[in-house]
Amino acid sequence: MAQQEDVFKKIVAHAKEYGFVFPSSEIYDGLSAVYDYGQNGVELKNNIKRYWWEAMTLLHENIVGIDSAIFMHPTIWKASGHVDAFNDPLIDNRDSKKRYRADVLIEDHIAKIDEKIEKEIAKARKRFGESFDEAMFRQTNGRVVELLAHREAVHTRFSEAMNDNDLDGLRQIILDEEIVDPISGTKNWTEVRQFNLMFKTEMGSTADGSMTVYLRPETAQGIFVNYLNVQKTGRMRIPFGIAQIGKAFRNEIVARQFIFRMREFEQMEMQFFVRPGSEMEWFKYWKEWRLRWHKALGLGDEKYRYHDHEKLAHYANAATDIEFQMPFGFKEVEGIHSRTNFDLSQHEKFSGKKIQYFDPELNQSYTPYVIETSIGVDRMFLSVLCSSYEEQSLEGGDARVVLHLPAALAPVKCAVMPLVRKDGLPEKAREIVDELKFDFTTHYEEKDSIGKRYRRQDAIGTPFCITVDHQTLEDNTVTLRYRDSMEQERVAIADLHKLIHSQVSLNALLRKI
Ligand code: GAP
Repeated sequence: MAQQEDVFKKIVAHAKEYGFVFPSSEIYDGLSAVYDYGQNGVELKNNIKRYWWEAMTLLHENIVGIDSAIFMHPTIWKASGHVDAFNDPLIDNRDSKKRYRADVLIEDHIAKIDEKIEKEIAKARKRFGESFDEAMFRQTNGRVVELLAHREAVHTRFSEAMNDNDLDGLRQIILDEEIVDPISGTKNWTEVRQFNLMFKTEMGSTADGSMTVYLRPETAQGIFVNYLNVQKTGRMRIPFGIAQIGKAFRNEIVARQFIFRMREFEQMEMQFFVRPGSEMEWFKYWKEWRLRWHKALGLGDEKYRYHDHEKLAHYANAATDIEFQMPFGFKEVEGIHSRTNFDLSQHEKFSGKKIQYFDPELNQSYTPYVIETSIGVDRMFLSVLCSSYEEQSLEGGDARVVLHLPAALAPVKCAVMPLVRKDGLPEKAREIVDELKFDFTTHYEEKDSIGKRYRRQDAIGTPFCITVDHQTLEDNTVTLRYRDSMEQERVAIADLHKLIHSQVSLNALLRKI
């Protein structure tokens, strides 16, 4: 675990050093849980968004996109339930003056018990070797049995308190389990209070009577309130979907793990409107299809798992998360929810407008049911970055850091390098750049030794380096170096475009889904 934490720290440092992610407002000492994407980060992020957008809208003829405003009528958030129920339970420590999410403190405590159990198991596995029977050990070892029972008891109390919205119950678990503040080390806790995660601001001048508006905490509501517009103007027939990519804002109490939990982040959401009664079939379809989208990237099939929700929100009749193995454990990257007709019905009620679909096949009107797929761009970015990062020891005691990014997502697709800065090689290299730049993000690199230039490109995940040498002037061939294998081959300049395109095109990636 500690080793994984070290790797994660290195990834965060690498992301900054190579222009992927910077802390926001850094020269003013930063702004907690807000980040900026740098010159390479924005390219990678845009490629992720393009992969999602094209997968949803090009590959599905019944899905169209929109781009709704961040500000919306405040009643929307009343109708959606966010004003009343988009809360986290928070608790303060009186000594450190720090604020925590009560549920996260308890979850972390449960994770610590799990770690103790795993440690006992690892010790026993080492002692017994081949003959070790883990299931038997879990049932019979006194210490493990005791820890498991304790874990179960805490978990049950926790689930009950969360389900019942029992804030005193949460506090009592923190007291009974003697959970201490990680900073002050004390148990001097305040009461637990509900904290709404939406950011508020004022719209209009105060003289006119200003109105409180919210920064949207999800993009989905912009889709719901445009359902009628899109259905009518696009003459969409059910089943159909509306996709949107955009910023969302949540005043997270505990912002942790770099860009995993931010206060300003980006979502890629799609609402799929279906006939009531067919939602389970579509839920299954989207659950499988979205996992295929992830797996096509080739980051490793074993790094994904589903987490089906046992406890469902009152409006949902099925929900699952796609989790990805981050250096800090399996974590939610995407949620797929069957949301019934809750949102559209609520907007119908609060707006007083009829939001129905006339189904010509059934000759009947109804409020469509909705399957939602919702993925965080930044979490997706983090999963790509973490699974691509590798520190490699090379022959001769050399080492390199390489990002094995999926080629279609790489910020720079190829770098063209003259071997030396004379004899007409830079000019020849520029000619190649001027040809490739129309289709691929291409870097021209002439500074430092060729080895150093390769390392710099490896560190940002460039799939191809093209070296121009004296032979190039004679026969119009170059050396093409592959990032992952570091193998090099001599290829004709005339073949470069086709070769690179076959590896980096989004089209090829989309065909893998
Ligand atoms: N419309 C449904 C919805 O917003 P959610 O599970 O709250 O559902 C969906 O969020 C996705 O948005 C998550 O799976 C995650 O990838 C991303 N997300 C949510 N909160 C985030 C945060 N504070 N920072 C970064 N990404 C976040």
